[in-house]
Amino acid sequence: PARRPTPQDITARKGGTPLVCLTAYTTPVAELVDPHCDLVLVGDSVGMVLHGLPSTLGVTMEMMILHAQAVGRGLSRAMMVVDMPFGSYEAGSEVAFANAARLMAETGCAAVKLEGGVEMAPTVRFLTRRGIPVMAHVGLTPQAVNTLGGYKVQGRGEAGDAVLADARAVTEAGAFSVVLEKLPASLATRITQEIAVPTVGIGASAECDGQILVVDDMLGLFTAFKPKFAKRYAELGADADRAIAAYAEEVRARAFPAAEHLFGDG
Ligand code: KIV
Ligand code: NA
Repeated sequence: PARRPTPQDITARKGGTPLVCLTAYTTPVAELVDPHCDLVLVGDSVGMVLHGLPSTLGVTMEMMILHAQAVGRGLSRAMMVVDMPFGSYEAGSEVAFANAARLMAETGCAAVKLEGGVEMAPTVRFLTRRGIPVMAHVGLTPQAVNTLGGYKVQGRGEAGDAVLADARAVTEAGAFSVVLEKLPASLATRITQEIAVPTVGIGASAECDGQILVVDDMLGLFTAFKPKFAKRYAELGADADRAIAAYAEEVRARAFPAAEHLFGDG
């Protein structure tokens, strides 16, 4: 197979065949997505999807490292990017560098992702000039849910110019790609046309240079709520419910275990 894509390879895909991206948090799911994806994100969505947290704000460096180590063991082909969790990078470029370097050193990821636009551009520049590739994330930035007042569509009307300015600022600061989350499609298309690096959309536009979804959302495994953009390609949650109900019924009826599941004396 071709060598694993680097951040430079991802950047070179601007305007080409769309980048296929998914999240993963565990080794078996990483093994499932690896043959099909260019980029696998260990997202801080892990907090909500696997740990039952009410938002991404409670996610820690330790959680990101543990999940990224697991994902890394399941990838051989796709590039691994790890989210910087809330509180690990906002206070300044130097603390951001220390935490990003720890993520890279302890997980083997190729790059980190952090949320923010104009205000984070100096940090993106600081990291990228010191050997840490950065994927940026603008538009709806879930770690800012409390200052945004909810998980609303960002950049409608007059507010669109500010999101474009955010995407431009992180691009000029050296981000190799920019996630666009929950924007009007026309704005996401405009940003894609105006910045030099690939945009990866989630609730953004079909014209983005790539797409990403939370893997548990698209598999129908995470069903606590369903964002409009989270297309379900499978209903594994419903399948699992049927399987567990069947097991419960068989145990209560002494129909499981059957002879083929049991051991003889010999
Ligand atoms: O944490 C996450 O899963 C993400 C993607 C949805 C972009 O940031
Ligand atoms: Na995230």
